Amino acid sequence: MTTLRIAMNGVTGRMGYRQHLVRSILPIRDQGGVTLPDGSRVQVEPVLVGRNADKLKELATLHDVEHWTTDLDSAIADADIVFDAAMTNLRPTTLSKAMRQGKHVYTEKPTAETLDEAIELARLQAETGVTVGVVHDKLYLPGLVKLRRLVDEGFFGRILSLRGEFGYWVFEGDSQPAQRPSWNYRAEDGGGITTDMFCHWNYVLEGILGQVKTVTAKTVTHIPARWDESGKEYVATADDAAYGIFDVTTPGGDDVVAQINSSWAVRVFRDELVEFQVDGTHGSAVAGLRECRAQHRSHTPKPVWNPDLPVTEPFRDQWLEVPANADLDNGFKLQWEEFLRDVVAGRPHRYDLLSAARGVQLAELGLKSSAEGRRVDIPEITL
Ligand SMILES: NC(=O)c1ccc[n+]([C@@H]2O[C@H](COP(=O)([O-])OP(=O)(O)OC[C@H]3O[C@@H](n4cnc5c(N)ncnc54)[C@H](O)[C@@H]3O)[C@@H](O)[C@H]2O)c1
Repeated sequence: MTTLRIAMNGVTGRMGYRQHLVRSILPIRDQGGVTLPDGSRVQVEPVLVGRNADKLKELATLHDVEHWTTDLDSAIADADIVFDAAMTNLRPTTLSKAMRQGKHVYTEKPTAETLDEAIELARLQAETGVTVGVVHDKLYLPGLVKLRRLVDEGFFGRILSLRGEFGYWVFEGDSQPAQRPSWNYRAEDGGGITTDMFCHWNYVLEGILGQVKTVTAKTVTHIPARWDESGKEYVATADDAAYGIFDVTTPGGDDVVAQINSSWAVRVFRDELVEFQVDGTHGSAVAGLRECRAQHRSHTPKPVWNPDLPVTEPFRDQWLEVPANADLDNGFKLQWEEFLRDVVAGRPHRYDLLSAARGVQLAELGLKSSAEGRRVDIPEITL
């Protein structure tokens, strides 16, 4: 059986540890690898890479992982695949080194802090011909898989709009510790919700609707001061909320208006931490991470506006659950499995550095739109 050695950089971090090591690579290893189309299997062998030897050793022992190192360069040299989930600003250097040595690459988003760097990485991918996968986890979530199925089945008729709500309250860190890393709130360390989330929204919009043509955004820092991991107060220099409007064109040429609010300063009155509502001439659907509910044209009630009377319609009850009709595994794991099959087959992965560059572009132009107070067109990226 073939075994792929994967250097996992940044594996002591939140995403690297929880989603990639614990929810993806270890379960893949423990299930005996990934099955290939011919029935054979490919196994994975993680190598934990980071700066803190004690933490790495502890994780390795806890999860029965044989190899760990603090030497990123030697880990890259010895690997078949280099994975990166360290801080965003360090990513271009790590990925370039790996690709130049002919290593396949799997990486968290955003791939870079600037569009120029993201395009440079996409060029390097094209030049070296290695297989590269960039995390597009939201498209593998059960809720969005169901939403995409409704689009494919023509459920919506002509799609008119999409509205998304993402966010939750991130504690400031004084009376209760913050539940996200402090660098997320410092622009100088690569933080900011626009940089973080617009690259997701780009592939979500592309994956559900079509090409994003323009962006109009208002980004703000609602909470000006926070407390870091050591309890020290710091100035929040990065945006913690972004209110965006996007013009999207479907493959059939229809124009769709998408609005997505992203905020770490909002309290949740929703069923899930992110929800997208799509409205079309023939039906509507609301998808979260896991669930998707739909309402067909023929089930649509006819509310009449009358503020003098209490609401009598049970609006939420008028939607029908969309079934999964399949066993939808953890989204991060599903994408890893697809990527590993692509590596073995020697073919490109469908979500690569060019798609990631479009995500970085949307974030960059979203920030520009907010700074200049205007709508910004999104040019096509050519390599
Ligand atoms: N796909 C998603 O939904 C999603 C969600 C959150 C974050 N992310 C991305 O994942 C990445 C990591 O985010 P996180 O929330 O896990 O952050 P984190 O702060 O928890 O982890 C960052 C990791 O980088 C390491 N690191 C920090 N400074 C370093 C340095 N100078 N040299 C080497 N390593 C260093 C840390 O030790 C840690 O292992 C970011 O790029 C972020 O944008 C993706």
